[in-house]
Amino acid sequence: MESQHGTWSNRLAFIFAATGSAVGLGNIWKFPYMTGENGGGAFVIIYLLCIACIGIPIMIAEVMLGRMGRQSPINTMLSLSKTYGRSSAWSSIGWMGVAAGFIILSYYAVIAGWILHYMFLIAQGHFTGADGEFVSNTFSDFTADVSLMMFWFTLFMIITVTIISRGVKRGLELFVKWAMPLLFLLMFVLLGYSMVSGDFARGVTFLFSFNIADLSSEAVLSAMGHAFFTLSIGMGAIMAYGSYLPRKVSIVSTVGVIAVLDTLVALIAGLAIFPIVFTNGLQPDAGPGLLFQAIPLAFGNLPAGSLFGALFFLLVSFAALTSAISLVEPALAFFVEKYKMKRLYAAIIIGFTCWVLGIGTVFSFNIWSDFHIVQSMTIFDFVDSVSQKILLPFGGFLIALYVAYKMPVQAVIENLDLAKKHTHVWKALIGVIAPLSIVIIFLHSLGVFKLIF
Ligand code: PHE
Repeated sequence: MESQHGTWSNRLAFIFAATGSAVGLGNIWKFPYMTGENGGGAFVIIYLLCIACIGIPIMIAEVMLGRMGRQSPINTMLSLSKTYGRSSAWSSIGWMGVAAGFIILSYYAVIAGWILHYMFLIAQGHFTGADGEFVSNTFSDFTADVSLMMFWFTLFMIITVTIISRGVKRGLELFVKWAMPLLFLLMFVLLGYSMVSGDFARGVTFLFSFNIADLSSEAVLSAMGHAFFTLSIGMGAIMAYGSYLPRKVSIVSTVGVIAVLDTLVALIAGLAIFPIVFTNGLQPDAGPGLLFQAIPLAFGNLPAGSLFGALFFLLVSFAALTSAISLVEPALAFFVEKYKMKRLYAAIIIGFTCWVLGIGTVFSFNIWSDFHIVQSMTIFDFVDSVSQKILLPFGGFLIALYVAYKMPVQAVIENLDLAKKHTHVWKALIGVIAPLSIVIIFLHSLGVFKLIF
């Protein structure tokens, strides 16, 4: 069966699209600040373990489901369940994913708006010769300015809606082909700067030294949630992209490539940012503002920094855009299938809903910064935590169970082209290791083990 929304022209096109989805603010903005907040090395190791043992198997499962169902995640889960005589309640994987996509995009677009604003600031030479105090002040002045933040947030949302209304394939392939390699290149420039003028050794130690005492149960849950977030899994984005995948492509090796690229970008971002943070007296646990302090400092002190800095933020905004597109694809494809809606109208409805939701995030950095939903969580903290720490891992958990226990083993093995000797490894990963680890990490973070032992 072919997807009604089209198919990727080849394997490379899928790699580009899926990497475009995976590589985004999660790698460049979120990974460094979460590492900083969670004490460094221990968080990084757990994150890498989660990518390998939970993320990759679930990503493989998700792409496979998409390719077998060839529809939006909701309808894919419905039709596969019908074929295999399973309850239609499994389509809740798709529904939960749609909800997660809305919630994530609502704040993702706010942060992407910050990126756009910083692109202009840097281009104007605002940070030339800046020091740590100056970049910190610039950031707090900006986040205090509601109308400025609303402006950039709205602009990013409009760009996203415009692009998604034109279909996933058109433009995206071309875009990722150029933007991705360039982004890599500029990240290496940053890394070079960091090695020469930052406290590189301290940065490396911070990122890679494992100190078990630093690791709270909350940090383990964050690391797992981030593994889901950064690979774009657990909510159907990768399933939707998998539904446009030609039959012959090998899913396992393709997912391997994507996961490696994604992890590399995050590690390079971390290696570039922390040395700058340490030499300039910034706080590693500065939170969501970390990138917006460290990067302007670097470019502000580099020759032709305004130019390269603006280019860097431009490329990061591309990376954010290619991720944002995939966040709405599950909902969009569903609207088109179910209501025969034009992509443009579906895109506008989704974009507008996310925009309204996103206003809460904008306000949580200024006029509502004292408004706490639970404990000390602002609206932003709350939507971020719920989506990343609960919705995505739970979605991934259900996907693992479905593929491991609700589908005929033979169908899965054939679809993945698994060699006989690998089937045991696969079954162990998807049926036991991945779902069990998720459960253990959930319980651990709830403090259940402390209660028992
Ligand atoms: N993976 C993207 C990033 O790292 C975010 C994302 C999450 C995209 C979930 C789609 C689905 O920025």
